[in-house]
Amino acid sequence: MCGIIGYIGNKDTVSVLLDGLKKLEYRGYDSAGMAIVRGDRIIRKRVKGKITFLEKELKSSPIKGDYGVGHTRWATHGRPSEENAHPHQDCHGDIVVVHNGIIENYVSLKEKLANQGHTFKTETDTEVIPHLIEQHFKGNLEEAVRQAVREMEGAFAVAAVSAKDRGKIVVARQGPPAVIGIGRDEYFISSDINPLLSYTRDVVFLQDREIAVVRPDGVTFKTFSGRSVKKEIEHVAWNPVMIEKGGYKHFMLKEIFEQPQVIRDTFKGRMSLDTGSIYLDEMGIAENDIKRISRAVIIACGTSFHSGLVGKYFIETLARIPVDVEYASEYRYRDFIPDEKALYIFISQSGETADTLAALKAVKKKDLLTLALCNADSSSLTRESKGVLLTHAGPEIGVAATKTFSAQMSVLALFALYTAQIKGVLSREKSIAYIKELQRVPHKLEIILNAAEAVELLALDFLSYSHFLYLGRWVSYPIALEGALKLKEISYVHAEGYPGGEMKHGPIALIDEKMPTMVIAPKDRVFDKVLSNVFEVKARLGTVTAVAFRSDKEIAKSVDKVIRIPDIHELFSPFLTAVPMQLFAYYIAAARGADVDQPRNLAKSVTVE
Ligand code: F6R
Repeated sequence: MCGIIGYIGNKDTVSVLLDGLKKLEYRGYDSAGMAIVRGDRIIRKRVKGKITFLEKELKSSPIKGDYGVGHTRWATHGRPSEENAHPHQDCHGDIVVVHNGIIENYVSLKEKLANQGHTFKTETDTEVIPHLIEQHFKGNLEEAVRQAVREMEGAFAVAAVSAKDRGKIVVARQGPPAVIGIGRDEYFISSDINPLLSYTRDVVFLQDREIAVVRPDGVTFKTFSGRSVKKEIEHVAWNPVMIEKGGYKHFMLKEIFEQPQVIRDTFKGRMSLDTGSIYLDEMGIAENDIKRISRAVIIACGTSFHSGLVGKYFIETLARIPVDVEYASEYRYRDFIPDEKALYIFISQSGETADTLAALKAVKKKDLLTLALCNADSSSLTRESKGVLLTHAGPEIGVAATKTFSAQMSVLALFALYTAQIKGVLSREKSIAYIKELQRVPHKLEIILNAAEAVELLALDFLSYSHFLYLGRWVSYPIALEGALKLKEISYVHAEGYPGGEMKHGPIALIDEKMPTMVIAPKDRVFDKVLSNVFEVKARLGTVTAVAFRSDKEIAKSVDKVIRIPDIHELFSPFLTAVPMQLFAYYIAAARGADVDQPRNLAKSVTVE
């Protein structure tokens, strides 16, 4: 949700900010802007729309300056417009701020500031920040920011510059991420590490309630209460090539094709075929604590919630403990019953999703055992949770999650086997057999991806449809949900995901020749039941496409089209069935000319409620 960027150093500030904004654009893209300090003036440029509009504007009327801040917006308060675009300024244009998050008490702050003589020009919550800083400003920007943030409630990452206290950018964080890139005599500020990678891989993550003062010759850190903090520089492993499209038309397509490697990377060093053992030593939760858990509660949002549903089948089948899967946005407000024998597992690609973080904090308050499954090391989620298991998917730029979904399922499979071993509920032979099957997944995915063209041709046949039904049972039910989510979010085509058995309880009324059905139908324990769903749809003139095993001779007789996938153990079919669903959604969206990597109204990290 929104991206903030800042630069102070010897390079051309405008180019660095623009480059950074392009790499942050997946966080929000309804308007953009930057502010540059030049001598004792601050020059602002803001536009409605994407970064390319800002780039065009800067080309037609260039600006130059010594240092500055930039922003790409995902609107929360106030519609997308030039006026509401960041950076926002105080009454005299001497203090300028970019902000990611929400100021919850902005109405009362605005009222108070208006009574003190401040005038407001926008509909945003952010505009109170520069005015609040102005109110406290007595020549020292850092001190004014420190006073201001102590009055602000809600979630914010803020970067501020002042024409009256020059040569510094002041950054403050309470909630949404802020990272400082450490270069040679130059410093960068960003909402995530992606924009920094082409310049430096040495970074410092600001923690909650910390302020950084970034100058050309160094950075200093303090808490909101004014105590100095010494911080470690971290070296990030991701490299700049990871965030290039690498010849693919879209990041999403590239990321779909990266999945075999992502799964290999996530499994690497964590399983042994010889001994049948799973190694999750880095998890940070003692074996004894895992041994005593009698239940797991998985909490997540969106696609991560769907991987959690797959995880439920993995853990219940292999480790034999009950698993509940909960939406974080619901769980955080529930009077949930604390279970000391449960492990609370939080799944998030970004590690910054506001609802997931709030649910984690609510669970932590009750002193319960927590584990984060996350793709972002040093994220808020990994920091707050007792245990951590990282998914090694690398940066995911496409707004629709694809490779991180596969990586999450990989970690969940590992965790299920690990727990089964510790609890002594799985024989060595069985463990070896499961590991063998998991190790075959990447190659099987390569086979599916080599036949992507067939999915593309199939997708082209469905371009004129406005509604789809996705059905799956048992482990394929979460894949039906995920397939439908992928289609609707990137192509804006309506799609419903349903457990096959529920069809007769309502959705069947929708079926006619205008509503095609996608059936996830691997040959597993519920295959015959899925086939019954197929007949029910066909009897009502619906078109059925099935995702089915290569060896399945039966299905083709009953459906209109088949997407073939290699055979696999029934429990692990989601690894294979998910990918054709991603491809199908991608090709429909691309053929309809949709903005695949940056679908309307969405943002990659949902750091607001
Ligand atoms: C869908 C998608 C979202 C995210 C959700 C949670 O393709 O990407 O539904 O899965 O916003 O995000 P994380 O995993 O970062 O918590």
